[in-house]
Amino acid sequence: MTNLQIDFSRALNFVDKDDIYAYKNECQKHLKSLLNKTGKGNDFLGWLDLPEDSKKLLDSIYSDAKKISAKSEIVVVIGIGGSYLGAKAIIDALNHHFSAFKNTTTPQIFYAGQNISEDYLHDLLEVLDQKEYALVVISKSGTTTEPAIAFRLLKNHLEKKYGKPEAQKRIVAITDKEKGALKELSEQEDYKTYIVPDDVGGRYSVLSPVGLLPIALAGFDIETFLKGAEDMKKHIFSDSTSFEDNPALVYAACRNALYKRGYQTEIMVNYEPRLFYISEWWKQLYGESEGKENKGIFPASVSFTTDLHSMGQYIQDGLRILFETVISVKNSKHKIEIPEDKDNLDKLNYISGKQINEVNHKAEIATTLAHIDGGVPNLGIEIPEINEYNLGQLIYFFEIGCAVSGYILDVNPFDQPGVEDYKKNMFALLGKPGFEEETKKIKKRL
Ligand code: PA5
Repeated sequence: MTNLQIDFSRALNFVDKDDIYAYKNECQKHLKSLLNKTGKGNDFLGWLDLPEDSKKLLDSIYSDAKKISAKSEIVVVIGIGGSYLGAKAIIDALNHHFSAFKNTTTPQIFYAGQNISEDYLHDLLEVLDQKEYALVVISKSGTTTEPAIAFRLLKNHLEKKYGKPEAQKRIVAITDKEKGALKELSEQEDYKTYIVPDDVGGRYSVLSPVGLLPIALAGFDIETFLKGAEDMKKHIFSDSTSFEDNPALVYAACRNALYKRGYQTEIMVNYEPRLFYISEWWKQLYGESEGKENKGIFPASVSFTTDLHSMGQYIQDGLRILFETVISVKNSKHKIEIPEDKDNLDKLNYISGKQINEVNHKAEIATTLAHIDGGVPNLGIEIPEINEYNLGQLIYFFEIGCAVSGYILDVNPFDQPGVEDYKKNMFALLGKPGFEEETKKIKKRL
């Protein structure tokens, strides 16, 4: 059993059930090839076993998180792409919406190295001048430019603030076990280090120390998070789980059936602002895994009802190449009722006494029906509530759905060759040694 339910009934005006079931055997075959490691990119399947493998690291991660938290008001997580999105997605999903203003002993988690904005870094350094802080620097390759720049700046700042010996105790590096500039630097400076396993790609690494250490630093229960993922894994790979009961396979089949019918863009929809970064993480996972060889569903996202007042018009009436996948959260954590007002000048008494969550759900149903009427197929993913366990399930579900979906498209879901092209141009423009030929070529184009 899983806590996560997938519902494709509202896509059936647009694809037949048979179109979806046509993928049944293929999905099951691809699931087997993941298990037996016989498909494309089979040297990058270490993420499949992270729910169990990472348990061995729990004591160490909790102990480091405790030490760092005791002396830090802020922890800056430095990383980009898969090296920060998973952690941010889970921390934001679990955090108080206004955590910066809550009196707690857990540090605030800030991020750096996910952009090259001078003003962002300036403002961050200005805040860090006034606060006690520590750094977690994450780069699997150890050579990515954005986090490398941020780390150089922040390391300098930290060493000036605390002196080198104390700064050394306030830095944890998460990187490759033997190669890359960050690995070399960490050894030289004797930083506490965690390893990103060779066979785990960045966007599949949230269940490794890459996600777990920042999530633990933010004060959340990573053991339960892993347990959710582990239970989803057991369910997905169990021989007794039928295709219909296997949400990852059903999801992969539905989105491919829709894609085949010309629905080229999938919009991940949430009605809870704390899920905003779950969609960002999902976009990276699916975009980098599937978008290659001139194919792949384009992953987009919106937050409703907010974006109904911006993107709603396009979704309702624009190009009919969209389908929506809605993450529905059944229960809110807290209850607030809309109060009665004796004057009723705002004319809202017709909903007084109702819970805000009920109104949000009505907005969800109303929107779904309107979008279906407008020609937008709808897939539903429901979880009972947002907590560590259900997020662990959701993450593992999306990862398997992505791998199977990539195999259906006949691409390698675990590489990202296209990401290198901008880097080559940037290095050429910045005059990086070894890029002299590219520099000459690119200068001719400017
Ligand atoms: O999923 C991926 O592999 C990428 O998005 C990487 O996570 C991203 O490019 C950062 O790479 P690295 O961790 O090597 O700095």
